[in-house]
Amino acid sequence: MKKTLFILLCALFLTTCCNTSDTLTPEQKEMNRFVSELMKQMTVEEKTGQLHLISGNDFISGENVNTDSNRTVREVRKGKVGAFINAKGVSKIRELQRIAVEESRMKIPLMFGMDFLHGYETIFPVPLGMAASWNMDNIEKATRIAAVEASADGLNWVYSPMVDIARDPRWGRVSEGAGEDPFLGGEIARAQVKGYQGNPAYAGNTDIMACVKHFGLYGASEAGRDYSVVDMSEQRARNDYLYPYKAAVEAGVGSVMSSFNEINGMPATANKWLLNKVLREEWGFNGFVVTDYASINDITRFGMGGADNAAVLSLKAGTDMDMESYAYYHHLQKALENGNVTMADIDNACRRILEAKYKLGLFADPYKYCDTSRPARDIYNRQHRAEARKIATETFVLLKNDGDILPLKKQGTVALIGPHGNNRPNMLGSWGWPSDINKAATLLEGMTLYLDGKAKVLYAKGCRPYEDMTHEDILSLTKDFEKDNRSEDAMLKEALQIARQADVIVATLGESSEMSGESSSRSDINIPIPQQRLLKALVATGKPVILVLFTGRPLTITWENKHVSAILNVWFPGTEAACAIPDVLFGDVNPSGKLTSTWAQNVGQIPIYYNIKNVSKPLEKWPYKFRSGYLDVSNEPLYPFGYGLSYTKFLYGTPVINDTVMRESDTLTVTVSITNSGQRDGAETVQFYIRDIVASTVRPNKELKGFYKIFLKAGEIKEVQFKITSSLLKFYDYDLNCVCEKGAFEAMVGRNSADLQKVKFTLL
Ligand code: BGC
Repeated sequence: MKKTLFILLCALFLTTCCNTSDTLTPEQKEMNRFVSELMKQMTVEEKTGQLHLISGNDFISGENVNTDSNRTVREVRKGKVGAFINAKGVSKIRELQRIAVEESRMKIPLMFGMDFLHGYETIFPVPLGMAASWNMDNIEKATRIAAVEASADGLNWVYSPMVDIARDPRWGRVSEGAGEDPFLGGEIARAQVKGYQGNPAYAGNTDIMACVKHFGLYGASEAGRDYSVVDMSEQRARNDYLYPYKAAVEAGVGSVMSSFNEINGMPATANKWLLNKVLREEWGFNGFVVTDYASINDITRFGMGGADNAAVLSLKAGTDMDMESYAYYHHLQKALENGNVTMADIDNACRRILEAKYKLGLFADPYKYCDTSRPARDIYNRQHRAEARKIATETFVLLKNDGDILPLKKQGTVALIGPHGNNRPNMLGSWGWPSDINKAATLLEGMTLYLDGKAKVLYAKGCRPYEDMTHEDILSLTKDFEKDNRSEDAMLKEALQIARQADVIVATLGESSEMSGESSSRSDINIPIPQQRLLKALVATGKPVILVLFTGRPLTITWENKHVSAILNVWFPGTEAACAIPDVLFGDVNPSGKLTSTWAQNVGQIPIYYNIKNVSKPLEKWPYKFRSGYLDVSNEPLYPFGYGLSYTKFLYGTPVINDTVMRESDTLTVTVSITNSGQRDGAETVQFYIRDIVASTVRPNKELKGFYKIFLKAGEIKEVQFKITSSLLKFYDYDLNCVCEKGAFEAMVGRNSADLQKVKFTLL
């Protein structure tokens, strides 16, 4: 196994790193020849033009590209633009492409990129929700559908996957990634890259280029604030944060986006260690690096000189394309004349971008993604929407279900109460905006239809989503937000009156979609205060209360967990939320999502994550002095990583290991049987963790190293096997060598990171 891996790695290294002509495939040789020929004919201005990515916002609105008066179009004609972000609409993109390939001197096609992280027009749950499905097939399928739709609309490049490991839920961008675990994050990154790029990559006109972001370590931004500082040991970076980006590179991702943060004193966009050393030299990445939005300009705000210097630092560090800073555009030519950059620096960046266009097939057919007959067929079609509904149901996490109150019966009267029950734009989540945010049905509409003729649905808003109008103004910037000018008392009175007529209350509370995502850090991560007041009043009625929780991040719902009967966390479920939520609430689908982040009891516990390193005085029992803990709260999370309930029960047998010793070349097998002992069919994610008991450096108390999501009919028993190879035991030691060390280990199997059974083994 290890040998095969070694051969594979060598092959990868040879194809990606060593550009010596004898190791290249005929296709790569032809690409090199083509690009070299092209570059011979290009002026410096045309070369730096390729490094310039600009906003196509002008082209989102309005019917046509105004070819005569538009400055951007003039720039395209002069060959001074390499790519667009946010140009939308296949006809407009086709026209821009026509200008580039017919009216510019070098006739170089453009790339068209956009952020559609969880669907293009058919929106899927936010990425954190998608991760909670632990279903790699679904994740690949959702990204494939996004690629099909976006490519039908003219786009050939997506700023996704976002793979930043996040252990601080105050950071709003946790919603865009896969959670806190590097192994799971890596698996998801691979599935997403494959889904977007196709396999083999770019073979057809639905296969677009992915861009893994935000490289790197952005999820560790200090205090959970955006655009900030990351001060981290290289050992931690390599063991806990870099792996998912590397997995995306191994999966062949075509581009990488540098992040807004600095790392140990150097902004990521100007960080040689990150881009040239780790990404290119060590991982053999052979695509191109694009900045995050205007992040070269942000280097000036970090206090490192003007945009001219920032441009030089970035290019020298290995950043190829400048998104919207206009820094390369304005300063590179001068920097070349001054000798601050070399022609080779510019050529390297230009070559990588031209190669990307070549790989996408744009030189062979610049209109590959501009088939104007496709949108009607390929965007937001019945099949995509059906997938979105099915996939969304698998992302919901059942956090509590006292007395098996869920699933609800389709009878009687249901009171749907809360500001998210009839809130159309709130269904989609933070990157739902490429789609028409007013298209999704509301939960009230969906549930009414779903229960038609069986049960009655009553509705009241109950309260405003946020504490005050100022928040409403800030948080509704991008939404057609309808303000409600009624007093809080009037809203509450109406809600209680509705609640009194019902058999069960379904409280639709939580965050609005603008409360997570970029620039949405929060210091208090509970549900907003007016909603807490509403919930307390609903609980006080004595009727059963089911909390349907909308959120893009882990929340500190300690009170809620204690007092409501059941909690179904639905994230932001996307286009088909209105049907997917009733599917699960009323039992047509058995929930199977499991959390991919640890949920804290309160914000004081943050950062909190399951794979914490061993500490010098571990807390065994709380409260206790002179132990690693708090006086006022235990170290236990509210919900551990990997946690999620089902409408059925899964019994775990005792895990069995086939040997207790292994050599580096051996493979051990851990087998466990799972029984669905309940009355309903259901899916369970069986999780596998490893602990290195004694090591040369301080190690985590456990690390996820495998998982299987299995489906079991009621009464069915299945066996699951996990393989242990030495590659799973590797880590970066104190001297940053990637090693596995001889000695004792524990392998653990179970339903979540806090409910595991152990077996022991030794590496000889
Ligand atoms: C975000 C990126 C995004 C870029 C382009 C930035 O503000 O950080 O995630 O890809 O904008 O929209």
